[in-house]
Formats: sequence, structure tokens, C-alpha cells
Amino acid sequence: MTTTRHFLRLTDLSSSELKTLIQRAIELKAMQRKGEQHALFPNATMAMIFEKASTRTRVSFEAGMAQFGGHALFLSPNDTQLGRGEPIEDTAKVISRMVDIVMIRTSAHERLEVFAQNSRVPVINALSDESHPCQLLADMMTWFEHRGDMQGKTASWIGDGNNMCHSFIRAAHLFGFHLNIACPEGYDPDQALLDEYAHCVTLTRDPANAARGSDLLATDVWASMGQEQEAKARMAAFEGFELNRELLNLANPDAIYLHCLPAHRGEEISADLMDDPSSVIWDEAENRLHAQKALIEFLLRQK
Ligand code: CP
Ligand code: NVA
Repeated sequence: MTTTRHFLRLTDLSSSELKTLIQRAIELKAMQRKGEQHALFPNATMAMIFEKASTRTRVSFEAGMAQFGGHALFLSPNDTQLGRGEPIEDTAKVISRMVDIVMIRTSAHERLEVFAQNSRVPVINALSDESHPCQLLADMMTWFEHRGDMQGKTASWIGDGNNMCHSFIRAAHLFGFHLNIACPEGYDPDQALLDEYAHCVTLTRDPANAARGSDLLATDVWASMGQEQEAKARMAAFEGFELNRELLNLANPDAIYLHCLPAHRGEEISADLMDDPSSVIWDEAENRLHAQKALIEFLLRQK
């Protein structure tokens, strides 16, 4: 009996599996762009459990399943028994007898773990408070497409030590680049992660220090979903952490910059960088579709 593979953290796939997956995502992108049919999983069903809002994640998974000839079900707590307190374990046992793959967006990462422990089918983390590995698949694909192999390069994370930052830390280890993290005191990523990945991560309080000599700059909102009450305090704490032209000019001449979106122009990223025609942020968003299709294919082929 094979053990079901899940994708709860980036490290659930090996470095070589991730690199192969990105190559495959690039192939799938070319197929889709050319209008080539690739209904690889007719009748396959994905359950999409969203306990938080989403635009890109929902659309990319749903469109991806349709392009594979399959089907995706949008499930929100508002209209499932999850919202009325049915245990996640019971939900997992039932849903995973009916569908082929599940994606979950939730707050507590533990809910994902518990779902996966009770699931007969692969479970994908579509964002938790701990991490956002699907976004990193798209981010690494985008970096690779525009600048080639990331081995030995330097990336900088400017802003909150949040779920995205955690996944960037794991990406640095898996893809062989160095990650400078600039965040204000009190907003560091998880110390356990910093300790585990100390070989490829440097923490600083100064965005300029982080940006110097960097090949990629990345940022994200200062107040994540669920932190709305803290938004004002965070605005003050993150002053000087805007990803802008001045910071970009300190990075290497061909550096690119990423933002997972949604973005707040004039807060964590300047409007001119968001709207610059050379920005790869829109490619990054599109690549969610292709990278996740490669992930779905990988996980469904394991069964
Ligand atoms: N980047 C991202 O996950 O976007 P959504 O919240 O719109 O899904
Ligand atoms: N850190 C953000 C990412 C959104 C895609 C959040 O969790 O809200």
C-alpha cells in the first residue's frame, strides 16, 4: 500500500521533485497558451475548503481542474456543516471517500494536519497562518522563467515574518539560494524556522541591508487575513519597509521583485513598482494556475 502524499509545507516535496514540478508547470503553461487539450484527469474531483477569502487560489485551482477535464467544488463554512461545528476529522473521513484531492485554506495549520491524518486522498495547503507553499511554487517558477536557476543566488524578504516569509525560508533551503529577511522587531518569522534554516537565512532590521546584492526582492501585506484589528499598529511598525524604487536600485541590476497579491499600493509596495511594465507580478499570479496544475498531477499520480 502506498502512503498518501500531501502538500502541507514546501518541504513535503524534495528539492528534485520541486524542480521537476516547475519544469512540468512550464510545459503545462505552454500547452494551455497554445490551446492544446490536456484533459489528463477526466472525472477527477477536487474539494476546495475555504475558511478564509481568496481570489487567485480559488480561481487557479478551479480553472486548473476544469482544464484537466475534472471538477472542483467550492466549500465554505457558511454553507457546510464545518461552520456548524462538525469536527474536521469527520469531515476529512467523509469528503476523502468522495473526491480525489482536497485543498484547504484555513487559519490554524493544525487543522490541515488533522485533515490530512484522516484523509484517504492528497491534501494541499492553500494557505494557513503558518505557510503558503502553493504561492512559493508560483514564485519559484516565475523566478526560474525570468532568470534561470536560483542556485547560489540571493533573495530578500522585506516586511512581515508571516506565512509567506516562512515558505520563502523553506524555498531558500530547497532551491539553494540565500534569503535575507528584513523585518521590524516584533514581526520576525518563527524562531524555530530561523534556527533550522540558519545556513541559508540572514535576519536584519534594515531593508537596505537586505536589498544590497540581491537578485530578487519580495514582500507581502503588513496585516494578513485575521490581523485586521492590528492594521493600524502594523502600519506604524512597518514604516520604512516599503518595497520601492529606491530599494530596488540597491539590488543587483537585473533583480526582479515579487508580491503574492492582493497588494496595498503605497504601503508594502510602491504604486510605480506595481504598475511598472517590467513587473513580473502578473506572471507570478498567472503561474499559480500552472504550478498548481503540476502539483495536482504530481499528487494524483502518486495514488
Ligand atoms: N496570493 C493569494 O493566495 O491570493 P488569494 O488570497 O487571492 O488567493
Ligand atoms: N500573508 C497574506 C497572504 C495572502 C495571500 C495573508 O495570509 O493574508
